[in-house]
Amino acid sequence: MLSIKRMVRDDLDEIMELERVSFTNPWTRGMYLHELEKWEGCYLTARSDGRLVAYGGALLILDEAHVMTLAVLEDLRRRGLGARLLLELIRSAEGMGARFFTLEVRRSNRAAIELYARFGFQIMGERKHYYLDNMENALIMWTEDITTNEYRCILDDLWKRYGDAGH
Ligand SMILES: CC(C)(COP(=O)(O)OP(=O)(O)OC[C@H]1O[C@@H](n2cnc3c(N)ncnc32)[C@H](O)[C@@H]1OP(=O)(O)O)[C@@H](O)C(=O)NCCC(=O)NCCS
Repeated sequence: MLSIKRMVRDDLDEIMELERVSFTNPWTRGMYLHELEKWEGCYLTARSDGRLVAYGGALLILDEAHVMTLAVLEDLRRRGLGARLLLELIRSAEGMGARFFTLEVRRSNRAAIELYARFGFQIMGERKHYYLDNMENALIMWTEDITTNEYRCILDDLWKRYGDAGH
């Protein structure tokens, strides 16, 4: 049974472990502490039998939710957990006033790009040499207005497919 909750300080030990193995430039504990203090932040964790299996977060700027992070335990990938967490993130951020979602993703990160494409994110631009560790470009992706009927249909289908992930 998957339990999705707001991220709190007590989650950070486990998050740091998953962060380190998931990202080339992992965030520090201090960066997460800073994010957790922001009222416009929406950070969630997913736990299965108490164990942290995924987390993600977005920051609201006016009506735009910027996806800041999303990670799933390596041995539990491709089971719908990333999609489930993103669905929950969209629901929570919409409740805070989000109408559009945007993010930056490494050009080579096929798994993430495919996931976001499933959610209707489209590539709208590219930042050259955005990632300083290897000078890789970032793709800038945006959703359409998530409050439209069209996007609601996309979300309904995604909830049907991934709403039970982790059960
Ligand atoms: C990106 C990430 C969060 C995806 O999580 P996940 O739980 O494996 O993804 P899901 O199982 O929910 O996948 C949902 C859909 O995304 C796409 N997808 C996910 N991983 C994919 C892969 N490796 N290759 C191709 N498509 C993929 C598929 O369309 C998939 O649907 P399907 O399995 O029903 O065909 C995970 O790979 C991860 O933690 N990566 C490391 C951290 C990272 O890069 N985060 C993104 C930062 S922008």
